[in-house]
Amino acid sequence: DLKIGEHGYKYRLLEGRVMPPYVTPNRYLLSRRIETKTSDICFISFPKSGSTWLSYILVLMTENQSTSLRDSLHWVESSWTYPRSEEDLRKASDPRIFKSHMPYDMALGGVPANNPCRYIYIARNPKDVITSYFHFEKGKSWAGYYEGDWDHWFEQFVKGRVQRGDWFHHVLSWWEHRDSDNILFLKYEDLKKDTAAALKRIAAFLNIELSAAKINDILERVQFQTMKSDDVLGDVKEFDKFFRKGTVGSWKEQFTVSQNEFFDELCREKFAGTGLTFDGM
Ligand code: A3P
Repeated sequence: DLKIGEHGYKYRLLEGRVMPPYVTPNRYLLSRRIETKTSDICFISFPKSGSTWLSYILVLMTENQSTSLRDSLHWVESSWTYPRSEEDLRKASDPRIFKSHMPYDMALGGVPANNPCRYIYIARNPKDVITSYFHFEKGKSWAGYYEGDWDHWFEQFVKGRVQRGDWFHHVLSWWEHRDSDNILFLKYEDLKKDTAAALKRIAAFLNIELSAAKINDILERVQFQTMKSDDVLGDVKEFDKFFRKGTVGSWKEQFTVSQNEFFDELCREKFAGTGLTFDGM
């Protein structure tokens, strides 16, 4: 059921949404039926929204670090890098940290409102997401090299034809549930502006006590430049893909004036009445 779209872009459809080839139906179903516990943490995002950054924060905060970042996380929906069997997942040490890129209706563990897992969603202003994603997919992604140009990518993104589907649906599906007890909704721009405040929010949500020294240690280690060269991330070459600029506003070097006007109008329409806003766009 693998499809090849325009410009060599490989994808598969699950629940009618565009997914990467490595999100197989079997892995997806396994992620849905996982029985979660109160100690579980699942971080979720649309791709290129700061999930690697958040994952490292969580691993440091819970002191659940294995030899590499990858070994410290469970990405159940993916058959690609580190597929854990059901048995592996049962035996994994607590707190288990799950990674996911799914919209709310396809969440790990089933309906978030009905299970004890704590979900942390990170969203980023969509102009930087489109830009970051373009550079990632353009010859960098393992999931089906994209060979189109920027204008085509921009169009595909707007139509929800990039892997993980429609950005607006994805973010709004979680935003709608942001007040649930087991959901924390974060924004990349807030993490960037005041990382310490974000760390405290995350720790409070997870009921973790952080000393001032611990906060300072985490702050230092998760800074873009430090993190980029941290061996703890494991196969640095692999993770190198996840570090490009690490700034807010790099879309300004990418968007044309008319794309910007079009996109602003689209955001006005889609965000109307939702209360969702982003800095940096
Ligand atoms: P850019 O391409 O705009 O630089 P993800 O991890 O979800 O794939 O997101 C990748 C984006 O997060 C990239 O954005 C990457 O540079 C940025 N990023 C990774 N680590 C970061 C950090 N420690 N601080 C800030 N941004 C970071």
